[in-house]
Amino acid sequence: MKKLLFQLDTDPHPAVFDTVVGFDGGADHVVGYGGCTPKNVRPLVEGAIFTRAPKEKKNTALFVGGSDMAAGETLLGAVQKVFFADFRVSVMLDSNGSNTTAAAAVTRLIQSGDVKGKKAVVLAGTGPVGRRAAVMLALEGAKVTITSREQSKGEQACREMKERFKVDVAAVGAATNDERAAAIDGASVVVATGMGGVTLLDEAQWKDHKTLKLIADANATPPLGIGGADMMDRGKDRHGKIVWGAIGFGTLKLAVHRACVAKLFERNDQILDAEEIFTLAKTMA
Ligand SMILES: NC(=O)c1ccc[n+]([C@@H]2O[C@H](COP(=O)([O-])OP(=O)(O)OC[C@H]3O[C@@H](n4cnc5c(N)ncnc54)[C@H](OP(=O)(O)O)[C@@H]3O)[C@@H](O)[C@H]2O)c1
Repeated sequence: MKKLLFQLDTDPHPAVFDTVVGFDGGADHVVGYGGCTPKNVRPLVEGAIFTRAPKEKKNTALFVGGSDMAAGETLLGAVQKVFFADFRVSVMLDSNGSNTTAAAAVTRLIQSGDVKGKKAVVLAGTGPVGRRAAVMLALEGAKVTITSREQSKGEQACREMKERFKVDVAAVGAATNDERAAAIDGASVVVATGMGGVTLLDEAQWKDHKTLKLIADANATPPLGIGGADMMDRGKDRHGKIVWGAIGFGTLKLAVHRACVAKLFERNDQILDAEEIFTLAKTMA
């Protein structure tokens, strides 16, 4: 029986990245649909759940992606509403690589040092990767703050994280590198999750930082999110801090994404979102 993965993407075009990893994760066919919304997704999900016998349903799986985390979460909810009894298939949510990227970054950080009870700041934490990194750090017991150029946007992201994951994350409005430098005062952990090609913090703003121990930067498009870091850093000591760059932890991210796709085809009743993907990443590191 062929393993079929259907990409339900909230953007107009299904992400090529997710198609490639779908094949690399073990799907025999990956079929992508763009522009998916709660209103138009029902027939696609019905096609997945009504076509194979109970024992064979595990060979069909769904992947929810796209650049908008909130839209992805809403679409996942709409997909699950179509399921009933054993008429269901396994689903993974990874809008913009949110869960797999954050899971790999936070896993590398907690391997490198202590985050429990420590102040962790996720710079530009309103995007898909930042939100999930904030949630995973909070689940590990860190006191998490996200920054946004707009205080109200940050607060909205925190409300959505609280609603979905019951975690308390604070928001700070910080539109400049100087304001972000002020936001990391007293922090032990900094994770940069800004848009590619935007430097959020200059090297001079963190190199002599007294409490900072762990840094991760998700941005792999120069200039990097953290000045003075390198995208290849794999737990490298820089100015007495342990630094993980986007490619440095990206190997684990890709491995986790592939492993999740493989896992989808083990059973027909799994939902792979932040908690499950983070748990898997920790076992793989
Ligand atoms: N290493 C990997 O394996 C991997 C995988 C996936 C993604 N990534 C990278 O991870 C990063 C985060 O991804 P994402 O999809 O979550 O990012 P995103 O949604 O594109 O951007 C995240 C946040 O960056 C802020 N931002 C945008 N333009 C800015 C500017 N000019 N100055 C300052 N802040 C700005 C915005 O926050 P506010 O509007 O709230 O300020 C936005 O919500 C990206 O660099 C992406 O390329 C890495």
